[in-house]
Amino acid sequence: MRLVNLLLGFCVLIPLHTSQADTVANRADFQRPGAIPAPPDNPLTEDKVALGKTLFFDPRLSRDGSMSCATCHAPDHRWSDGRIIPLGSEQVENARRTPTVMNSAWLSALMWDGRASSLEQQATLPITTPHEMNFDMDELVERLNGIDGYRSLFLKAFADEQVSKVGIAKALASFQRTLISPRAPFDDWVDGDDTAISFAAQRGFSIFTGKAQCIACHSSWRFTDDSFHDIGLDSPDLGRGNWVPAVVTLMQHAFKTPTLRDLPENGPFMHNGSMHSLEQVIEHYEQGGQQRASLSHEMQAFELNEAERKALIAFLKTLDGGPLTITAPDLPE
Ligand code: HEC
Ligand code: HEC
Repeated sequence: MRLVNLLLGFCVLIPLHTSQADTVANRADFQRPGAIPAPPDNPLTEDKVALGKTLFFDPRLSRDGSMSCATCHAPDHRWSDGRIIPLGSEQVENARRTPTVMNSAWLSALMWDGRASSLEQQATLPITTPHEMNFDMDELVERLNGIDGYRSLFLKAFADEQVSKVGIAKALASFQRTLISPRAPFDDWVDGDDTAISFAAQRGFSIFTGKAQCIACHSSWRFTDDSFHDIGLDSPDLGRGNWVPAVVTLMQHAFKTPTLRDLPENGPFMHNGSMHSLEQVIEHYEQGGQQRASLSHEMQAFELNEAERKALIAFLKTLDGGPLTITAPDLPE
């Protein structure tokens, strides 16, 4: 059934299966942006992106030369690692799953708990974290300054052949800004191709934006509100609650809403990698999560029938644009 939203001038396909009308969400709210945002003091340039790509894939950014950013943010794992907890984190209390770095140009809060506020600021954290790359920024600058190839890449990118900490951060940030989800069938549907996704997936979209209220948190073309919520998982990790006073009840156990684009087939999903299928994820939301003071107000239990669950999953799969593969760079000598 078609319902034409005359007020906004858009034609929205909303099959009405229940007596109460589903929320009318505009396809246009999900339109992909036309340009990549970058901060004024680090505009995107091809030379910075090329340098950043080289740094991203270079294991010499780790003390013992064994780990690059791409070890954990790998192109063939949707720019994550496919692991429940990252390499080296076995001894880490409440270790968190590696998020993808795709679409990170649009992130306003980084890390599961939002403790970094820009890609530039985030870039040095994994380099100096002991269980990750375990290096020191001054020693890294010294190491890279000793590699001729890097001096010429820095000269091109920053008109200065001296390797610097700021330059390393700016280049890594620039490269990551270019990692964008490939167009998915959903994007064609948003742009008006009514046959780009199946009828079941369209029904899933109306469940996502209506009855199941996933849209309360997974909004915009990236399917995130860039905010933090406790969705009631059984996990001792306080997430954002570690950084804000305990009186801010809603931030206890709260984690950043992840994007739903390009989800890996069997996860692992969630900050602790605790779920392995979309069926399991949907079951969790239907039950409404663990009841506790911090549980997000948007977490409301609901019930779907088997066909509705399948439709919701069919919709989530239309957000998959396939792998974003790139050729690994030659590392400079
Ligand atoms: C050992 C695995 C590992 C390595 C190596 C690693 N990362 Fe990560 N990365 C992670 C994990 C785990 C997180 C999430 C940590 C958290 O939220 O507490 C993360 C988070 C991020 C984020 C934030 C994404 C978001 O959605 O908020 C960015 C950006 C990022 N890493 C970039 C990099 C860069 C650049 C490098 C190389 C300098 C790098 N990572 C190296 C595992 C790794
Ligand atoms: C209250 C806000 C909220 C609502 C409502 C919500 N989500 Fe989430 N979603 C989140 C947050 C926050 C996480 C990460 C939680 C964590 O790891 O602790 C998440 C994680 C996920 C993940 C895992 C993604 C990944 O990369 O690990 C999927 C899939 C997902 N949600 C789908 C849905 C679906 C489908 C619905 C509707 C049935 C929904 N969400 C409703 C906030 C929400």
